[in-house]
Amino acid sequence: MTQAETLEKIMSARQTASNGNKHPGTSGPSGPSPRVICITSGKGGVGKTNITTNLAFSLCKNGKKVMILDADLNLANIDVLLGLTPKYNINHVLAGEKTLAEVMITGPGGMMILPASSGIMELADLTEKQKLYFMSEMETIDQAIDFLLIDTAAGINNNVVYFNLAAQERFIILSPEPTSLTDAYALIKVLSTRHDVKKFRILVNLAQSSKEALTVFRKLSSVADRFLDTISLDYIGQIPLDNNLPLAVRRQKLVTELYPTSPASKTFFKLSEQLIEEEPENLMDGNIKFLWKGMFDL
Ligand SMILES: Nc1ncnc2c1ncn2[C@@H]1O[C@H](COP(=O)(O)OP(=O)(O)OP(=O)(O)O)[C@@H](O)[C@H]1O
Ligand SMILES: [Mg+2]
Repeated sequence: MTQAETLEKIMSARQTASNGNKHPGTSGPSGPSPRVICITSGKGGVGKTNITTNLAFSLCKNGKKVMILDADLNLANIDVLLGLTPKYNINHVLAGEKTLAEVMITGPGGMMILPASSGIMELADLTEKQKLYFMSEMETIDQAIDFLLIDTAAGINNNVVYFNLAAQERFIILSPEPTSLTDAYALIKVLSTRHDVKKFRILVNLAQSSKEALTVFRKLSSVADRFLDTISLDYIGQIPLDNNLPLAVRRQKLVTELYPTSPASKTFFKLSEQLIEEEPENLMDGNIKFLWKGMFDL
């Protein structure tokens, strides 16, 4: 099966699932559905990993069960950021050597992290048996978490596209740098024109003020309005440039944990409350299963 055919299949599965399984609110027949949010960007280094982990921590502090999938498959870095040393990674589950529970590590606030690995085997190359085993492992946690946050690599490689297609919501991270705008535009263009993804949520990081952040969002929005039909860009807010964040990184801690009253931390806590209060669209049962099902073309 070609890559285009696989992506086509993900799209049609997504369509069927969202048409047939709409549960306003949070409950499906067998329990709550986790929200699956992909945190992504065109340009590297704009803060995806820090946003994913700090948001996870804030959600945990608000009583939510959160799992992070480190989907930056080239360069696993969540564990480095948090000073954790995972013994195993997602490859061991994909290879059927370990269970998910054995591979998953617990991070600050009780967040669960599924570590990636450098040189992950290509998802497309897995055997049917490997895919089925992995899916059945995923089923074991499907009902146990409220949020699955996926930290992707930057850019538009296949894995990034797969995760963006399979997630329910996409947070595109922008920084005020012009290249971050052009790269985000390129990512949105690929996802919308080639894969029919129409909704994007924009989070601006590293701005000096909320005014600057809004200007950055407006720039992207005006180019997108002009050149891309029928997409919707929803501005979720901004995480300010905050010197305490790199200070925390140097100590392998989260800014929300080490400096909870710092400007960036306050916005993470606010954002997590905002997310919890929202009534998400298209909540589906078995989201995590669905995510992998699409990726594995089952
Ligand atoms: N709000 C912020 N204020 C100050 N510094 C920040 C902020 N957000 C991120 N940084 C700094 O930017 C650097 C890159 O952040 P991070 O690793 O989270 O980016 P990334 O998008 O995940 O990068 P990559 O594309 O390489 O995975 C970090 O060293 C971090 O200290
Ligand atoms: Mg990263």
